[in-house]
Amino acid sequence: MGKPKIAILTGAGISAESGIKTFRDSDGLWENHRIEDVASPEGWYRDKELVLDFYNQRRRQLLQCQPNAAHYALAALEDKYDVTIVTQNVDDLHERAGSTDIIHLHGELLKARSTADEHLVYDWQKDINIGDKCAKGSQLRPHIVWFGEAVPLIETAAKVVQQTDIFIVIGTSLLVYPAAGLINYTGYDTPKWLIDPNNVQAPRVPNLRVISKKATEGVTELVAHLLNEKG
Ligand code: OAD
Repeated sequence: MGKPKIAILTGAGISAESGIKTFRDSDGLWENHRIEDVASPEGWYRDKELVLDFYNQRRRQLLQCQPNAAHYALAALEDKYDVTIVTQNVDDLHERAGSTDIIHLHGELLKARSTADEHLVYDWQKDINIGDKCAKGSQLRPHIVWFGEAVPLIETAAKVVQQTDIFIVIGTSLLVYPAAGLINYTGYDTPKWLIDPNNVQAPRVPNLRVISKKATEGVTELVAHLLNEKG
């Protein structure tokens, strides 16, 4: 018999204690930038330099940050469970902590993409500048899903969530769709946990337990419980 399956939806809150600001907490990133300016195709057409600069700053900051205890705890779950992380985060902290199966719903900060061919994606650790071009000669853009754009991996994620034995939600305001709707693909009897120190509008699904703690504390506790439960 294979290992039981766990699917985990993570949001900005799991990386908060690594020093990456969340989007909607009071000191969130959007404070200084309007979403439509830096995270939409319209913003990109209006001012590519502003958009590149915004993500260049985020990328530089990310390279200074480290995974925290919550990222490491999720990686440790793989000892006894078949774990898939569905993350809305564009950071690589789950990868650096050692998780091996990660779906980046909203793209990845450490990748750049062609504006002529969406399948032309490059690993990218430095700044993206005006004039940086893909192999086909078009400007590179951040490999990020912007508001108003399709979320290509949502169906893959929905299938994972449909088949999971346990579902865990960590550090997301559940305000952005389609990611926020994934919990509705879980089975009726599937045990579900939500970890967030603040009052998230908890979805109306059966078998949902809320752990009102920060990720480093709440995730570590839950993972210890789940590893213990499996003997
Ligand atoms: P939000 O900023 O909307 O929500 C962050 C959540 O993390 C909130 O519910 C906080 O209460 C919680 N939180 C704060 N500190 C925490 C901690 N230490 N431990 C655990 N939770 C904590 O971020 P997301 O829900 O991830 O999209 O936002 C979803 C999407 O909106 C993002 O992926 C981004 C943004 O627009 C794109 O970039 C395309």
